[in-house]
Amino acid sequence: MIDLHCHLFPGIDDGPRELSDSIELARLSVENGITHAVVTPHITPGRYDNDLFSISPAYQAFKQALIEYEIKLSIGMAAEVRLGPEIFTLFEEERLPFLGEFEGKKVLLLEFPHDHIPPGSDKMVKWLFEHNIIPMIAHPERNRDILRKIVKLQPFVEAGCLLQITASSLVGNFGPQSEQCAKTILEKGWVTILASDAHNLHKRLPEIEPGRAVVEEMLGKDASWKMVKDIPWEIASNHF
Ligand SMILES: [Fe+2]
Repeated sequence: MIDLHCHLFPGIDDGPRELSDSIELARLSVENGITHAVVTPHITPGRYDNDLFSISPAYQAFKQALIEYEIKLSIGMAAEVRLGPEIFTLFEEERLPFLGEFEGKKVLLLEFPHDHIPPGSDKMVKWLFEHNIIPMIAHPERNRDILRKIVKLQPFVEAGCLLQITASSLVGNFGPQSEQCAKTILEKGWVTILASDAHNLHKRLPEIEPGRAVVEEMLGKDASWKMVKDIPWEIASNHF
């Protein structure tokens, strides 16, 4: 499986603090059937002020550590970028890391705030498309506005956004509401990929398989593997 959303670099965001935990997370990814991972630290201005130039050294160092510890996880780097006006500057200054490419466009892993969809989000999405960037919305099933009214997601789907569901949402790790929401989004045929969104060794583990099994039950085996292997590979194979 190929994980396109996880936090594995030490000390760069709210993922692991120490290298030892990062290494354990990578080891666990491999144990859980993940062969490739694009690591996506937060870019949340004021909180995690990352950009291409802060993430690159973290990536290089961790790649080297994986070789030293003989862990067979292939990694790439991108970011989970919080929706906001800072995206304009990051783009202009070429400091925005991309997840990969899809249908000739660059893919940006875009995070809404957890409690709502900010006004103007539709305009931001439009601007991204105009700049040949296709947003992939991170875990919409955990957004309060979308949980209350799933129809709020529809304009983004109609605009052509891709959607990433967190695999563990499908087995209830983020509560029954997020589980139901994730399943409804799946039934609508809106889900592009599943990813782990791994953060730590306690509750936010690098697991995709339990979610894939739920997709298999709901939509069949082929559809489930497309979401964890074929489409992620199509998007991100350039990294490896
Ligand atoms: Fe994340």
